[in-house]
Amino acid sequence: MIDPRVERFLARRGGLVAEALGEGAVQATLERRARELGVAVELYPERLEEDPREAAEFLEDVLIPETWFYRDITPFLWITEQALQGRWRRPLRALSLPCASGEEAYSIAIALREAGVAPAQIEVEGWDLSERALERARRGLYGPFSLRGVPGWLIDRHLRPAGTSVEAPPELRALARFEQRNALETGPIGPDFDLILCRNLLIYLDAGARRQLLAALVQRLAPQEVLILGHADGWPEATLGLRPVGPPGAFAHERGAPAHRPLTAPRAPSPRLPPSPPPPAPPRPPSPGAATPAQARQLAEAQQLADRGQLDEAHLRCATYLERSPLDPAAHRLMGLLHVARKSPREAEASLRRALYLDPEDQEALGHLALLLDHDGRSDQAALLRRRQEMARRRGSA
Ligand SMILES: C[S@@+](CC[C@H](N)C(=O)[O-])C[C@H]1O[C@@H](n2cnc3c(N)ncnc32)[C@H](O)[C@@H]1O
Repeated sequence: MIDPRVERFLARRGGLVAEALGEGAVQATLERRARELGVAVELYPERLEEDPREAAEFLEDVLIPETWFYRDITPFLWITEQALQGRWRRPLRALSLPCASGEEAYSIAIALREAGVAPAQIEVEGWDLSERALERARRGLYGPFSLRGVPGWLIDRHLRPAGTSVEAPPELRALARFEQRNALETGPIGPDFDLILCRNLLIYLDAGARRQLLAALVQRLAPQEVLILGHADGWPEATLGLRPVGPPGAFAHERGAPAHRPLTAPRAPSPRLPPSPPPPAPPRPPSPGAATPAQARQLAEAQQLADRGQLDEAHLRCATYLERSPLDPAAHRLMGLLHVARKSPREAEASLRRALYLDPEDQEALGHLALLLDHDGRSDQAALLRRRQEMARRRGSA
């Protein structure tokens, strides 16, 4: 049981909850620092209140700055795809809050460079409470732990070896700026960010701080702007007026009424495409595998579960649907995206190829398969698919 005065200190300083940070770790830090200062453990909370330097050191010791490049991968693949499709204005301003040691901020910059966005058009800000983590971010030197699960071709293209580590080269470092900011003291955030990643912070916050931060983030979102949360951050309350965009696993949100996908038309235009020109394509005829309304409801439910991050349930629902409607390209596409989110690239590829066999014009399936192949080093095939996607888009808007 943590001393209530320390609990209050954490809540006041960062909206933090000792239980979420790990009570054992907080208690061990408290005892160690008291010992080092030669102060009785019971008196240490008073020291925290009186000594701003000790308060800052203690906070640094209990914060959890764990992060790595392309963490959860899907959000970054999606950012590349959206930038390719022209979702955001240029220059594009992005925020990583919290950025910890900077891998997330640099990953945003890398994802945009992958889409061919010119360096001069990329401005990424990284904010965090931890000055120690920010120093590492500015230095841009990273060990193997920061690269876990990152495709080798991305490392080769954007980072360079530095002894047993890698470093963000100056041209990448120039795209990101880091600043110490408390997420709860930033006031209204923006107004000029097109893309905000706020991942793996809400899990450490108490209910009030969570609400305050989410409200501040949402308040500033304009229709084309995107907020990406972490997979463990939970689903923001519907009243916040956010709706999911992008594939399951991107955990991306934009402002708007909840997405209603017509039950009998699983090929409704994707809500993640920009609503501005080109004009909407004429309605497409139902696919050969078009389902009955009851079956289509099952597919819509699978999509909703996927949007909420309930991947296992979504998978089960989608698989059951496919048993009855094996010729529905939309269901194979959804299955493909679920496999992507569950990190099963082979199965994802098979499902997306099935979707394209049934509907060669499926722009989303073309885009996702291209990303998958790129990721697998098959960039020639990926380029061909992108050309097909572009042609399908032009035909759709002609
Ligand atoms: C687990 S890291 C998340 C980093 C990155 N967003 C990611 O998902 O990989 C959590 C970070 O939140 C920061 N943090 C905790 N409370 C904060 C607050 N009130 N304001 C800003 N940053 C905070 C910590 O310093 C830590 O670096």
